[in-house]
Amino acid sequence: MHTEVVAPNGESLALAKEILKRGGLVAFPTETVYGLGADARNDVAVASIFAVKGRPQDNPLIVHVHPEYDISTLVEEPKEYVKQMMHAFAPGPITFVLNSKGVVSPRVSCGLNTLAIRIPKSESALSFLRAVDMPVAAPSANKSKHTSPVTATHVYEDFQGEIPLILDGGRCVGGIESTVVDCTGDIPLILRAGIITAEDIRAVVGACEHAKSGGPVKSPGTKYKHYHPHCKTAMFAPEEVKKAVALATEWRKEGKTVVFLVTEATQAALTLLGEREFYPLGETPEAASRNAYYYLRKAEKEYGGLIAFSLPETEEYRGVMNRLKKACSNE
Ligand code: TXA
Ligand code: MG
Repeated sequence: MHTEVVAPNGESLALAKEILKRGGLVAFPTETVYGLGADARNDVAVASIFAVKGRPQDNPLIVHVHPEYDISTLVEEPKEYVKQMMHAFAPGPITFVLNSKGVVSPRVSCGLNTLAIRIPKSESALSFLRAVDMPVAAPSANKSKHTSPVTATHVYEDFQGEIPLILDGGRCVGGIESTVVDCTGDIPLILRAGIITAEDIRAVVGACEHAKSGGPVKSPGTKYKHYHPHCKTAMFAPEEVKKAVALATEWRKEGKTVVFLVTEATQAALTLLGEREFYPLGETPEAASRNAYYYLRKAEKEYGGLIAFSLPETEEYRGVMNRLKKACSNE
């Protein structure tokens, strides 16, 4: 199959609609990461997402719609706090897990009676969703376990020859996946951290907690190995630069080239120890989120190993730190 990579325009969006209508897959940009979309009402199309990604059969998908789409056709009337959250954060990098009306394919939610809904805000995502005007089931557009894609090229590298169309909207500004929030209980419960934090949600609706790990897995996707680039990875605390250099030296003896994913402080410390190869993660939570996957994907092409450093244990860094930790371990 030929894979076309093209910017969203009248022609490519009409083609995207036609492909989805006949049960095919279309990759599209959002403000977080690229998605791999199918018509959420089409059983066979949804099944093919799992097949092409190599995705475990018990990891449900998010349904994407444009802001004018009537979500009351898909989910039960949400609680009052959800309406407030939607008013404050949607369209945006947040996903609401709600009680499903069961009108999309049961494969989308892997048999759960809930449905995850996301209304993205990037112009290119909105032009796509408005043009196709249907509920689009879409996971991140990467092979299962691989680093999520933040450019059309990343998507192409994983699915070249396997999908007909990638809409190229440039590099994603958010850089990590949406915050997934269980909105079926009395208070919002964060299942997957993202750019919108528990503090942001608390500021709007008063209460918000992170789902306890160790209990029943409420967001099945969070239990799998995730985000790994195709190179060696490791993570150290910023105080452990000497250990990091020792590991880099070991890897170099094995014939591998090594890059460090740094802040200004770790770069300064590593430079004193004679290191020269750096990717700048950035100095803010926003920058770190925007850059993390981008550099993980760059590292697998340019180096044999990447060494990262842990980020402050704050709510704002939680989303990106969660991804980096997994990418740099065997978790
Ligand atoms: O930013 C994003 O969320 C991106 C873009 C493309 O929108 N999508 C994305 O999809 O990250 P995916 O499939 O890579 O991750 C979906 C997450 C998984 O952790 C999954 O378990 C959870 O959402 N999820 C989906 N439906 C759920 C449900 N009904 N209940 C609980 N968790 C759900
Ligand atoms: Mg994913």
